[in-house]
Amino acid sequence: MSSDQVVIFDTTLRDGEQSPGATMTHDEKLEVAELLDAMGVDIIEAGFPIASEGDFEAVTAIAKRTQNSVIAGLARAINKDIDRCGEAVKHARRPRIHTFVSTSPIHLAHQMKKTQEEVLDIISATVARARNLVDNVEWSAMDATRTPIDYLCRCVETAIKAGATTINLPDTVGYATPDEYQKMFEDIRARVPNAGKAVFSVHCHNDLGLAVANSLAGLHGGARQIECTINGIGERAGNAALEEVVMAIKTRGDVLPYRTNIESAMLNRVSKLVAAVTSFPVQYNKAIVGRNAFAHESGIHQDGMLKNTQTYEIMTPASVGVTKTSLVMGKHSGRHAFKEKLKELGYELGENQLEDAFARFKALADRKKHVYDEDIEALVDDEIAQQHERIKVLSLTVIAGTMGPQTATLTLDIDGHHVTKQATGNGPVDAIFNAIKALVPHEVKLALYQVHAVTEGTDAQAEVSIRLEDEATGKQVTAKGADPDTLVASAKAYVSALNKLKIKQAKGQLEGVDLQRDARRGP
Ligand code: KIV
Ligand code: ZN
Repeated sequence: MSSDQVVIFDTTLRDGEQSPGATMTHDEKLEVAELLDAMGVDIIEAGFPIASEGDFEAVTAIAKRTQNSVIAGLARAINKDIDRCGEAVKHARRPRIHTFVSTSPIHLAHQMKKTQEEVLDIISATVARARNLVDNVEWSAMDATRTPIDYLCRCVETAIKAGATTINLPDTVGYATPDEYQKMFEDIRARVPNAGKAVFSVHCHNDLGLAVANSLAGLHGGARQIECTINGIGERAGNAALEEVVMAIKTRGDVLPYRTNIESAMLNRVSKLVAAVTSFPVQYNKAIVGRNAFAHESGIHQDGMLKNTQTYEIMTPASVGVTKTSLVMGKHSGRHAFKEKLKELGYELGENQLEDAFARFKALADRKKHVYDEDIEALVDDEIAQQHERIKVLSLTVIAGTMGPQTATLTLDIDGHHVTKQATGNGPVDAIFNAIKALVPHEVKLALYQVHAVTEGTDAQAEVSIRLEDEATGKQVTAKGADPDTLVASAKAYVSALNKLKIKQAKGQLEGVDLQRDARRGP
């Protein structure tokens, strides 16, 4: 590896999935992993195999499926974790076990209840055990930035001696400043006698909004691996955003003389996929992938942009996969233009999928004055999601207004059976959800119901996000539905969430919903 090469370690599927409510289904994880692999991510942390059967299966499947990336799994410093992780990653062309233990006084005293000497013994034994299973072992000092440097040096030396090939020094609680973080790496590399035998890694949380700045400072301190996530999702305030570190390095080569293997033109597409499968919307002004990241509103800016794009843009939209034109499609657009548009947006649909999507696009264009890229994306994402669904919304009629009771008449297709129910409720959305509950009895709490317009205007498509929570287990699923009619979008989103519950149930992760039984029982 050349001295300016930076290894990109993506932990969207592990630390990112730990964001409250960001759980992904097995298939969604595979889809994200495939795109990360294609984008040039060097290492994909695919999950935490001991955490659940679902995580183990996902890491195993990703290890089998991916082509280029190293596949890592996370393991605590416990033998059964390490063995389980080894089992899951062994199918990868290049497997890695990532094991970690806390090193800070506060974690040792309150969480681990262990002495410093005991932790050193644990590091030695667990890293050696991992190294017996795979050649590529990463060791992390959890809460490194709040660990006294003398003790941290001893931990790092012990881990390398036991066989760790990568040493990760996380800012677990997002407490460090860039200068401090850089110095920590400089000190460790200067003082640990065997430091030259390992690659050093940064892993920064964003509690003070410094995750990306700290990660880049870590590079100046000699680290050559960055752990990050798409859209910066992760525990609490999240992790360093992959797209931001990659584009900072690409754009500011003058002060950040490093390289990554990332195909940056794929960043926007991956960001959208992660936002869709986690139902975590990307904030409009988010750097690199936010909707406004390349939008110019003020007259002065627009004037400058028309004369020379470099007046107000430090990188081109194309370099991150954003197309400049956002208003091109309408009811006069034909199948060919639609297909080209899909290609431009990064979709490759089969013939049947394309036909269905085109028919829905035409119907939308008839009802809506302007069809924006975001409308098409919402429509196609919805189309793709529907193909994996066992319950589908066939028709919905709602009586709303001041004269109550608000009433919904809903027909669902459940595994090919058409069932209809009329229900009332406290408002039209409540009536719809009551109809769904009557058709598919289930006991879960509606933890989130959110509506936002995909684009502007009163004819904009509505996108509804739903989060359902199984109160018994605390497990959550999130899903979206899009339609020009907010009530139809609400029904679709709820039904999509139920489909996800069914998938979880099939994996034995969630009890209490039996769609087949419930469908047979009927309304
Ligand atoms: O933030 C952290 O310390 C972690 C470790 C498990 C690497 O996520
Ligand atoms: Zn973390």
